Amino acid sequence: MDTKNWFEDWFNTPYYHTLYKDRNTSDAQLFMKNITVFLELPKTTHILDLPCGKGRHAVFLNSLGYKVTGGDLSENSIKSAKKFENDRLTFKVHDMRKPFKNKYNAVFNLFTSFGYFEDDAEDILILQNIKNGLTNHGLFIFDFLNANKVKANLVAKETKVVDGITFHIKREIKNGFILKHISFFADDKQHSFTERVKFLDLDKMTSYFNKVGFTIMHIFGDYKLNDFDSENSNRLILVAK
Ligand SMILES: C[S@@+](CC[C@H](N)C(=O)[O-])C[C@H]1O[C@@H](n2cnc3c(N)ncnc32)[C@H](O)[C@@H]1O
Repeated sequence: MDTKNWFEDWFNTPYYHTLYKDRNTSDAQLFMKNITVFLELPKTTHILDLPCGKGRHAVFLNSLGYKVTGGDLSENSIKSAKKFENDRLTFKVHDMRKPFKNKYNAVFNLFTSFGYFEDDAEDILILQNIKNGLTNHGLFIFDFLNANKVKANLVAKETKVVDGITFHIKREIKNGFILKHISFFADDKQHSFTERVKFLDLDKMTSYFNKVGFTIMHIFGDYKLNDFDSENSNRLILVAK
């Protein structure tokens, strides 16, 4: 039996990158520009982008002048990101459940890269690792889906054709998790994966942050940094120290 967690498999496949190939680079760059300007982050800041995927935020942050380290569990994504490395941009395979060796001035956890684990203790462990990996006065930037809006607008069934692959997608909320079942036929095989993200709203995240001793400084609802509104905002963005 395959005992791997879903996120170890799915994010490491080429199909994940095919399905999400239209994810918006300009949105990601706009967010990075807005947040670094808003926080007046000096160019001396060493940022850890965790998990970084193929490095779309990390590469852009580096182009703004920052020293950036990207970490991700997916070996394939890190291999691809490494093409962009320079003396102020490095990538490495890292499991965010493990402590970091270095300290950073800021840690960015972007684009719903949290809440994959069954047990709350694992979520808290990740936040604790991040906190321990920050220098004094270091900042944590957390960008997650807005669970309440997802729930209110859940698209139960959808079919998407990308690069000739027909992805059948079903969504549901069950036992405190937002589930996205993805099935498709590709490379002569039927595949199915389920993305599973915990239903974490502002109250729950606040209690997590309090537990590890993070103080929330700002709460935004989108990449333009408008205020968070639990009914209408697309994102839940927290800045903590
Ligand atoms: C939704 S993607 C977002 C990636 C990136 N932040 C972006 O915006 O493109 C989530 C990422 O989390 C990574 N991941 C999942 N579990 C992880 C873990 N335990 N440690 C480190 N990375 C993990 C996956 O490999 C994947 O690249």
